[in-house]
Amino acid sequence: MSQQFDVVVIGAGPGGYTAANRAGQLGLKTACIEGWKNAKGDMALGGTCLNVGCIPSKALLASSEEFEKVSHHLDVHGISVAGAKFDLAKMQARKDGIVSKFTKGIEFLFKKNKVTWLQGFGKFVSGGDVYTIEVTDNGNSGDKKEIITAKHVIVATGSKARHLPGITVDNENICDNEGALALTAVPKKLGVIGAGVIGLELGSVWRRLGAEVTVLEALPNFLAAADEAVAKEAWKAFTKEQGLNIKLSVKIEKVTQKKSGITIEYRDDKDLAQKLECDKLIVSVGRIPNTDGLDAAAVGLKVGDRGFIEVDAHCKTNLPNVYAIGDVVRGPMLAHKAEDEGVMVAEMIAGQKPHLDYNCIPWIIYTSPEVAWVGKTEQQLKGEGVAVKVGQVPFMINGRALGMATGSGFVKMIADAKTDRILGVHIVHANASELIQEAVVAMEFAGASEDIARITHGHPTLSEVMREAALAVDKRTLNM
Ligand code: FAD
Ligand code: NAI
Repeated sequence: MSQQFDVVVIGAGPGGYTAANRAGQLGLKTACIEGWKNAKGDMALGGTCLNVGCIPSKALLASSEEFEKVSHHLDVHGISVAGAKFDLAKMQARKDGIVSKFTKGIEFLFKKNKVTWLQGFGKFVSGGDVYTIEVTDNGNSGDKKEIITAKHVIVATGSKARHLPGITVDNENICDNEGALALTAVPKKLGVIGAGVIGLELGSVWRRLGAEVTVLEALPNFLAAADEAVAKEAWKAFTKEQGLNIKLSVKIEKVTQKKSGITIEYRDDKDLAQKLECDKLIVSVGRIPNTDGLDAAAVGLKVGDRGFIEVDAHCKTNLPNVYAIGDVVRGPMLAHKAEDEGVMVAEMIAGQKPHLDYNCIPWIIYTSPEVAWVGKTEQQLKGEGVAVKVGQVPFMINGRALGMATGSGFVKMIADAKTDRILGVHIVHANASELIQEAVVAMEFAGASEDIARITHGHPTLSEVMREAALAVDKRTLNM
């Protein structure tokens, strides 16, 4: 007799494990199918985020930032450190230890919330009042393991790195995120294709550790999704101050790999033929949803042209009692978005009426300076014909920022010209990842710039710049 569940979640990344844990908490008999094997060959929960995404990248970003600080940025405090060195093997081992702690932590949470982990890959067999799902070791029908049934299914199969035609990723020399996080030596010359989030974060890691980094970006605008003022400030910091060599409007033509290294032939912004020689290459040109192994057709689950499962605003698919969340559906490919969709769906299955405001999902780039925003950019709002008021205040006026020597950057707050409701907040500075949360809370509560302007902020803190930006919306700054 096959095992029967109220809820089966396919995939245990941040979307899937959160959905499974919340369903378990709500008393639903829940299983989560996951067959990820880590580099050691062990089964691991946590998906992209914990194994080869958010968590390992942030560990390396933190280590490399410490090294850069000790090597170059303590002089201003009157501290000189001669001959600072790093041990990459130790840095990588620290990162691996954090990953392992977190993935094991999900196993603990599954036990705590009575979630059954079915080790393997899941695919639909049949639908109807209950769904039949086959779990196999490697996703091939030949190695069938077990058949289970579920009243509700949550698809949380996530995404994988998009590769480019004609460029073979071996994760030794030509890497996607997996190889780029696991390099055992610092490349002398590192090429990066794509100046998106991974290109900037991992490009920064290896630059700080000594690589000469060149980033080749197809688009003419840097950080096209960000507010233009933020993109301009970040460009100045990454290129002029830190020496990341970023080339825009590039068309990649050919990549060849020889023993001597990798050659990238491309056309530059003037359509001239150029060559970049490097010893390692990171390809970071976006991610594609994982739907191949699901046999969506077996049950008639609708998958769009670009491979994303089609869902409504509540993550319902075209099939009754089947939901899809996280990177495998529309919206930003972010762990916290996946997690919150997981909670929403589990609670809907339990009969609750949750809601997720997609406009209040923050974006954070963990470079130095950090870049963070929530809501819309000034350009988007103007394009939509919304009349806005803008307050922008630099961190240079802030005592804490000066004391910490955290450099330039600003908070930009955009509010509706008539109602004063906050429509977007954009930050470029150290700790932007934490500072943005005040704006997220304000926007979730439909707050106005006046609300932030009237809240007492501790002194001296970086958060005072948020208040000052709110005051600037109404042209009444107190410290500028
Ligand atoms: P995933 O985490 O991709 O998990 C999906 C899981 O489903 C995988 O474990 C996979 O093995 C499993 N699966 C697939 N098919 C099947 C099947 N048929 N049966 C069973 N299991 C299956 N986001 C942030 O918010 N902040 C960050 O700082 C951040 N940093 C990142 C850094 C890097 C280098 C990368 C690559 C991504 C980063 N992201 C970050 C994005 C984040 O990792 C993803 O948005 C997030 O992991 C998506 O969660 P998910 O649950 O939808 O999918
Ligand atoms: P991305 O979408 O952020 O950036 C990809 C970049 O590659 C874009 O600028 C694009 O114009 C460029 N590009 C595409 N094709 C190209 C080509 N042929 N030649 C040159 N450039 C090309 O994707 P990325 O960096 O791969 O990251 C994937 C996703 O992972 C992100 O979109 C994000 O959702 C998530 N992520 C989130 C992080 C965070 O929240 N801090 C960190 C890292 C990843």
